[in-house]
Amino acid sequence: MKRTTDPQEIDFKSKFDLQDKVIIITGACGLIGRAFCEAAAQFGAHIVVADIEKANPTEFADSLTKRHNRTMLGVTVDVVDKSSVQQLLDITLKTFSKVNGLVNSHQNKTNSFFEKFEDYTEDNWDAVVETNLKGTFLSCQVIGTWMANHKGGKIVNIPSTYSVVAPNQNLYKGTNMGCPAAYSASKGGVDALSRYLASYWANKNIQVNMITPHGVWNKHEENFEENFSQFSPMERMSYNHEVASALIYLLSDASSYVTGDNMLVEGGWTVW
Ligand SMILES: NC(=O)c1ccc[n+]([C@@H]2O[C@H](COP(=O)([O-])OP(=O)(O)OC[C@H]3O[C@@H](n4cnc5c(N)ncnc54)[C@H](O)[C@@H]3O)[C@@H](O)[C@H]2O)c1
Repeated sequence: MKRTTDPQEIDFKSKFDLQDKVIIITGACGLIGRAFCEAAAQFGAHIVVADIEKANPTEFADSLTKRHNRTMLGVTVDVVDKSSVQQLLDITLKTFSKVNGLVNSHQNKTNSFFEKFEDYTEDNWDAVVETNLKGTFLSCQVIGTWMANHKGGKIVNIPSTYSVVAPNQNLYKGTNMGCPAAYSASKGGVDALSRYLASYWANKNIQVNMITPHGVWNKHEENFEENFSQFSPMERMSYNHEVASALIYLLSDASSYVTGDNMLVEGGWTVW
C-alpha cells in the first residue's frame, strides 16, 4: 500500500476498477445475483456465474460474455455439497488460473418457506439453514482457503435486515408473505461467520464484508408494497441495481482497509 499523506498521488477512480479480476458469484441467476454480475462485469471483471442447474448459469454466463466481449464462465453448483463447491473452484482455476473475489448470494426459498412458526417442520428449517448458512460456510472454506494460500482476496456475504433487527410483523398484514425464523436465524449465522472470518483471515490479505439488502422490488403484491412504504423512512422498496453498487466498493481496492463490515442497503429501515 502506498505510504503517502498526499491524496493527489492517488488515482481514486482506478481504485474501483475490477479489470481482469475473477469473481465467483453464487446464486448468480437470482434477483440480486443478476445485478451483481452485470455491475461487476461493467467494471471489467470476469464473472463465474454459479447457480443450481435449474437456474441455467451457463446461459446467463454466455449472455454476459456476448454483452461484455470478455470470457465469463457458467458453472452448476450446489453450495451444500462440498465436492460440488470444490469442483466450482477447480473449473474456475482451470479457466482463469486465479480467483480474486467470492460473493455468496444464494438462498433457499423452500416451497413451504412462509409456514407459520408453530408449524415449521424440521425438514423445512434444515433446508433453509443448510443452504443459507452451511452453503456460505462451505464456499468460504473451499474458496477462501485457496485465497488464503494465494495472496488473499475479497469475500462478500449477504445476511439480511432480519439478522440485524426482528421483522415488523405488521408489514405482512393482509398479505401472503412473512419472514420465517429459520431465515433470520440462518442469516444471523452468516453475519457471525463473516465477522469471524474477517478476523481469522485479516493477516492473509482477505477482507470479508457483508451487504444487507432490504425489500428489493420484484413485482410484489400491492398490499405489501403499500405496507412497506409506510414503515420505510424512504417510503419505497429498493431495486436490485441499488444493491449492486455497494458490491463494487467491497470487491475493489476502494475498500482496502474495510473488513468485517456489514453495509446496510436498507433505505434507513433500522435507523428508527
Ligand atoms: N431480495 C431481497 O429483498 C433480499 C433482502 C435481504 C437479503 N437478501 C439476500 O440476498 C441474497 C440474494 O437474494 P435474491 O433476492 O437475489 O434471491 P433469489 O431467491 O432471487 O436468488 C437466490 C439464488 O440462489 C440460488 N440457489 C438456491 N439454492 C442454491 C444452492 N444450493 N446452490 C447454489 N445456488 C443456489 C437460486 O437458484 C437463485 O438463483 C440472498 O441471500 C437473500 O437472502 C435478499
